[in-house]
Amino acid sequence: MTRRIENALNIDELREIARRRLPRFRFAFDYVDGGAEDEATLSRNRESFEELRFRPRTLNDVSKRDTATRILGQPAAFPAIVGPTGLNGIQWRDGDLQMARAAAGAGLPFAMSTVSMSYIEDLVRETSGRLWLQGYVFRERQITDRLIDRADAAGVEALIITSDFPTAGKRERDLRSGLLPKQEFPLATKLDILLHPGWLLTVATRKPRFVNVERELEPGANVNAFVGHGMFDPSLNWDDLARFRERWKRKLLLKGVLRADDAERAVGIGVDGVWLSNHGGRQMDRAVSGMDALPEVVAALGSRTTVIVDGGVRRGSDIAKAVACGAVAVALGRAPVYGLGAGGQAGAARALEILRDEFDRTLALTGCRSVADLTPDLITR
Ligand SMILES: Cc1cc2nc3c(=O)[nH]c(=O)nc-3n(C[C@H](O)[C@H](O)[C@H](O)COP(=O)(O)O)c2cc1C
Repeated sequence: MTRRIENALNIDELREIARRRLPRFRFAFDYVDGGAEDEATLSRNRESFEELRFRPRTLNDVSKRDTATRILGQPAAFPAIVGPTGLNGIQWRDGDLQMARAAAGAGLPFAMSTVSMSYIEDLVRETSGRLWLQGYVFRERQITDRLIDRADAAGVEALIITSDFPTAGKRERDLRSGLLPKQEFPLATKLDILLHPGWLLTVATRKPRFVNVERELEPGANVNAFVGHGMFDPSLNWDDLARFRERWKRKLLLKGVLRADDAERAVGIGVDGVWLSNHGGRQMDRAVSGMDALPEVVAALGSRTTVIVDGGVRRGSDIAKAVACGAVAVALGRAPVYGLGAGGQAGAARALEILRDEFDRTLALTGCRSVADLTPDLITR
């Protein structure tokens, strides 16, 4: 691990290292950092954690603490999942593999994205940790079905259907850089890329590609054009979720839920968990946050399902807040991706180490010895 990564004290410092290393105001950094339109949802995600304060218990013996928990019945080192983020391969060569290894090292599940840049089968073979697949549903349904069948054959533990992408959010930073709609870069972006030789060395020596989708297309088809052109099916609906429930026998999660009635309906269809998320503020601008939705969902569903929440987790104390408010775990989006962009696997591992350390400190400082001690009375608005 380089000294700079090792010395990073928090996620913001890793973000700053990534910002300097990556082609910044245009392409790889902005793709991670940005949100839709005015980025109001992006800000809301942080605010909804900031609004919460702890009411710590005092004089509890916290000399022996345990951050471990179970997510979907299996162990995790602390209540977090490395969530699905597309295009990890533009942060670092073999970014998904690097991220999967960092997650395994930290004892957390890793959810690979449909638009990841490493083969599902390679990730299963080359990492020892828990692996989930996030599924976008293509207009060409047979492509989604084949990806799901491959994940099943490879032994992937859980499938996540993402439901908040009926159309692409208006991510203006990406439209400006040329990354969207179909990776046609203007001269300014190309110059910016050339001005970042360090990034070029770690990434462009093997051109990142959407290998999993590419494998399912006709030979010679342009995968970038395919992925860029309104690829996801806006007709996706509850009947489809029921169909996925029939097809996929292992754990199934619905990601992109922000209302108790939708959460109820998903549980009625037989999902194993609901994932409260506004896609990190990248889709609907001015949506509520996952944390905003958490109380109504927990009130409606209690412990009938696994509730995961994401959006804006940058400190270990955020994880503690989410769990105290009733989530089984948080999902991490940008936090480990900033680490990946700062220093590959070592950077992602550092991000997870920072969050675990902060989570453990929060346990101690709020008078908790275990995840089970994180109860709603610890939190006030
Ligand atoms: C760069 C990036 C790529 C993403 N790609 C996907 C994806 O392919 N599929 C998906 O379901 N969510 C995707 N997301 C959303 C994340 O899974 C997660 O919901 C969100 O990032 C959480 O917010 P946070 O980044 O503030 O932690 C992406 C997010 C980012 C930042």
